[in-house]
Amino acid sequence: MKIVHTIKDLQAALSPLRAQGESIGLVPTMGALHAGHASLVKRCVAENDVAVVSVFVNPTQFNDKNDLEKYPRTPADDSRLLEECGASFVFIPSVAEMYPEPDTRQFSFAPLDTVMEGKYRPGHFNGVCQIVSKLFDVVKPDRAYFGEKDFQQLAIIREMVRKMNFPLEIVGCPIVREMDGLALSSRNARLSATDRHRALKISQTLFESRDYAKTHTVEETCRFVEEAIANAPGLRLEYFELVDGNTLQPIADWKDTDYPVGCITVFCGEVRLIDNIKYNQE
Ligand code: PAF
Repeated sequence: MKIVHTIKDLQAALSPLRAQGESIGLVPTMGALHAGHASLVKRCVAENDVAVVSVFVNPTQFNDKNDLEKYPRTPADDSRLLEECGASFVFIPSVAEMYPEPDTRQFSFAPLDTVMEGKYRPGHFNGVCQIVSKLFDVVKPDRAYFGEKDFQQLAIIREMVRKMNFPLEIVGCPIVREMDGLALSSRNARLSATDRHRALKISQTLFESRDYAKTHTVEETCRFVEEAIANAPGLRLEYFELVDGNTLQPIADWKDTDYPVGCITVFCGEVRLIDNIKYNQE
């Protein structure tokens, strides 16, 4: 595994491999890697000749400076995990390398990016599209891998690829959960032991709501989730939305879509956690 810090070095290493016909996979990450990232990297390694993993805490996608400062950084552990997963290259650029001048590009994929996270984190998806499009330009991957935990991000990146004609395949990978159900997230590292225990209520509620939904309306199911989180100590619901998994628009009736997905954001103490669940699967 080779660690590379500059665009020039990465492109110099990848060009001859691409010229020899080797396929290139990319897993963009912000580091603080866990088993969820490992599943993306292992799939990337299995499906491509060359697996590139980028590790870059992208400042332009943080609308909250405090959140950016507190974002966990674990470079030594990250390198170990990536080596074990069989990554070929780890790209760890500086902020100046990725943004030698301010990126003023504006991306708009309305209505996908105006709801849910788009509403509560203004500018977040613009920053995600800035960095992901740069990485696509630099690496020119055949495939890029993203987790379904960031369900809205995945939908927006698919739309960006479609609209901007990036010649690559986006591969969405299932959420990886702890044994007890908590969705893996780099932010979990910031939870105290008490909050870690309290956070469990989020996935538990989502799983219970899937059973509840079988005999209740969309409105009743939303209320079920909202009340469960409101009554849980230490949790504060930012939103729960039942949406069509393709358009991300809220549904009013189960008949409105054959792909209903519930997306949730909850503050557990100071830590903002997201999760989602598909209602048409067991
Ligand atoms: O999902 C993430 O970790 C980030 O949003 C991404 C895709 C690496 C862009 O910075």
